Amino acid sequence: MKPLALLISLCLLGASNTLLAADIKNGKQLQQKNCMSCHDDSMYSRDERRIKDLSGLRTQVQRCESTLGLTWFDDEVDDVTAYLNKSFYQFK
Ligand code: HEC
Repeated sequence: MKPLALLISLCLLGASNTLLAADIKNGKQLQQKNCMSCHDDSMYSRDERRIKDLSGLRTQVQRCESTLGLTWFDDEVDDVTAYLNKSFYQFK
């Protein structure tokens, strides 16, 4: 019974959250190194913030990243998105 329950919850997690594989520590480092020149962390928790869901967050990370002239790989965008989501946004 126990291994089966574990298997089921792993499947559910895998299906519901593709960001699970993201490297949050790497995301934090990337964000702190590159993203503090225009706004600090308070941007992510301001009252009138515009981001409403996870895909919107990812889009904004990409937008700001390309404004900076960085050329991040998809998994780097995912890492930063996952870090911001875990630390500030907490979308499901
Ligand atoms: C060139 C200046 C600049 C840099 C550098 C920058 N941003 Fe932004 N960022 C902005 C501005 C301006 C806004 C507000 C956009 C708006 O309100 O329409 C913003 C908003 C955001 C938001 C949305 C905040 C909200 O409303 O919830 C996120 C997330 C974000 N930036 C992430 C990043 C990340 C990640 C990086 C590093 C790759 C980064 N930014 C670097 C200018 C910048």
